[in-house]
Amino acid sequence: MTTNITFTMLKPDAVEANNIGPILAMINKAGFTIKAMKYLRLSKEQAGNFYAVHKERPFYGELVDYMSSGPIVAAVLQKNNAVADFRTLIGATDPTKADEGTIRKLFAKSIAANAVHGSDSDENAANEANFFFSGLERF
Ligand code: RTP
Ligand code: MG
Repeated sequence: MTTNITFTMLKPDAVEANNIGPILAMINKAGFTIKAMKYLRLSKEQAGNFYAVHKERPFYGELVDYMSSGPIVAAVLQKNNAVADFRTLIGATDPTKADEGTIRKLFAKSIAANAVHGSDSDENAANEANFFFSGLERF
């Protein structure tokens, strides 16, 4: 069910720092099931399209450059209340403001290189999952 999924990316800083394993372990421990997953590098154009909602924000150019700077892990996660519970697990956008024990508090390097993405609504979760995965790639 759409309302039970969220979409995540482990961002280039998390991959570069060899934190894929520890972050996925936290995600599984928090009760999320992996429904789809891939390891890839976004082109600038793809990153720009993915973050098109932020086009007018001052950090858009930096965000697109950053998200296309290295490989990422993209995944669809399932759990009751997935969107809200995942945002709680990852913590605030700015890691200096993130709660203790959250993924961003533990692994993020800065507000831009903040380790993980998490969808902000059920509608965006569905759109973001569709951006990366076909029906054949979901289980
Ligand atoms: P995300 O979409 O990646 O899960 O992050 P979020 O909801 O917590 O934050 P959002 O406002 O959607 O911003 C998307 C990403 O843009 C980068 N950002 N940089 N330099 C800045 O001030 C700034 N503000 C945001 C972050 O990487 C943020 O995750
Ligand atoms: Mg966001």
